[in-house]
Amino acid sequence: MKDASDAILRHEQAAYLEGIEPARDPLLAEMETWAKDHGQPISDPEVASFLAVTARLSGARSIVEVGTNIGYGAIVLARAAGPDARVVTIENDAETVGVARGFIARAGLSSRIEVRQADALAELAVLTDPIDLVYVDCVKEHYPAYLDLVLPKLSERGVIVADNVLWKGLVAAADVPAHEVGRVQALRTFNHAIVTDSRLRGVVLPLGDGVAYAVRV
Ligand SMILES: C[S@@+](CC[C@H](N)C(=O)[O-])C[C@H]1O[C@@H](n2cnc3c(N)ncnc32)[C@H](O)[C@@H]1O
Repeated sequence: MKDASDAILRHEQAAYLEGIEPARDPLLAEMETWAKDHGQPISDPEVASFLAVTARLSGARSIVEVGTNIGYGAIVLARAAGPDARVVTIENDAETVGVARGFIARAGLSSRIEVRQADALAELAVLTDPIDLVYVDCVKEHYPAYLDLVLPKLSERGVIVADNVLWKGLVAAADVPAHEVGRVQALRTFNHAIVTDSRLRGVVLPLGDGVAYAVRV
């Protein structure tokens, strides 16, 4: 059972949702095991399913992922979006980039997924092509800055998905531990922008650890 789901949902609801998730294909299942064994923070399976639905539904061709880790989300996005889609995914840790490139090669997606070893803020600042779909899953304190950088680059009906925006329920807590205040304040700012910015129509979903979902209007 995932801690994050338990924090947002009642225990039996989290168990139920986990129980109805479809079996992953062997590579994704291997990645889930690898991430668990190595303490790596890949997306929850239900969030991956949501990404796949969104990639397919939006018809995205140009996808950006902020925070690659071992390439789990990038593989899900590239597969669901189809053969004409390209994913640029950003990761600053060299060793993690190597692991991601290995899994992506094994998925047969090296020609459609480009892993850029860079700081996410710096790389987003220099991206020039319009973005059809962006998946934000990186430094929580930087979510408002990611949004500022990405919004002007979104294509006409571009979509934003962001993970962990309820942060184990702490965004709604009256008492936030001192070491979480920076992350929680940034996520509250981000969520407020997702639902109120006039350039977006957005919603925060209690999926996984909280998923923000918005489309440019
Ligand atoms: C939550 S994980 C991403 C999971 C991935 N999106 C998935 O779907 O499985 C966040 C990743 O962001 C990376 N990261 C942390 N700080 C970063 C930064 N400043 N720039 C780029 N990547 C960063 C971490 O090394 C980590 O691998």
